[in-house]
Amino acid sequence: MSEPSDDPHALPEREFLEEVHSFEFWFQAVEGYLSERPYGHRPSDAPTAPFQGDVEALVTTLCNYCVGETAALEGASGMIGFAPNRQAKIFLATQVVDEARHLEVLLHRMVELGVENPEGKIERRANRGLLTFKQRLLDLVGARAWEAAVFAQNVVLEAMEFTVFEAHARRADPITREVLEGIVKDERRHMGFGQNDLGRRLATTPRLRRQLLEVKNELDSLVLQTFEQTLAEIGMPRSERPELGRDYLAAVARLGLLE
Ligand SMILES: [Fe+2]
Ligand SMILES: [Fe+2]
Repeated sequence: MSEPSDDPHALPEREFLEEVHSFEFWFQAVEGYLSERPYGHRPSDAPTAPFQGDVEALVTTLCNYCVGETAALEGASGMIGFAPNRQAKIFLATQVVDEARHLEVLLHRMVELGVENPEGKIERRANRGLLTFKQRLLDLVGARAWEAAVFAQNVVLEAMEFTVFEAHARRADPITREVLEGIVKDERRHMGFGQNDLGRRLATTPRLRRQLLEVKNELDSLVLQTFEQTLAEIGMPRSERPELGRDYLAAVARLGLLE
């Protein structure tokens, strides 16, 4: 493999994909924001300080995030088995590592907040719409439906996480904020993979657009329902919530896949 370049976008397409889907690229990307941050944040005395705010609401929110991360962890790992090429398989392997880390740091954050058995809480507290979304994603993976699975996972789910985590980080306590900011950086990379893979396929197979629109129409409502609950839990005023829903739809639209 050639040396990682300063601007991979300047490379011819084959070399670009070879580079941005590699572990070398991944190492360079995560080094800056993961080193010296065990469990996603700089060590400090803060985790032992009493949390100011509604702990139960934050724990419920983190439970929902864990469902999303588990969906992506199981989805991405299953997709390696039928990914169309080696570069995609290697990228998905890096995504599996990212999603496993996200799940781990979110569970750890709950322990820091005083939850004794965080995994025992997830199923009971999770939003029903999000659990249905997870099942639908894993159905698509089970059916080895590559384009639909990439769309559900790396576009719909990632765009939702990206929008919600960013909004939450802006109003979270400092530790949760740092954890979420590290996760958002990974999610941006995962969205880029979906955009890149589907963008090239749509260019050569226009009828794929209709299939992806059907997936979007089915999954958007589940995602927006989850939004509503999560944003209420993190204390976002009702008046600001539709804006976030629009941000999600805009994030999907910005990927330029379905106009
Ligand atoms: Fe994630
Ligand atoms: Fe992700």
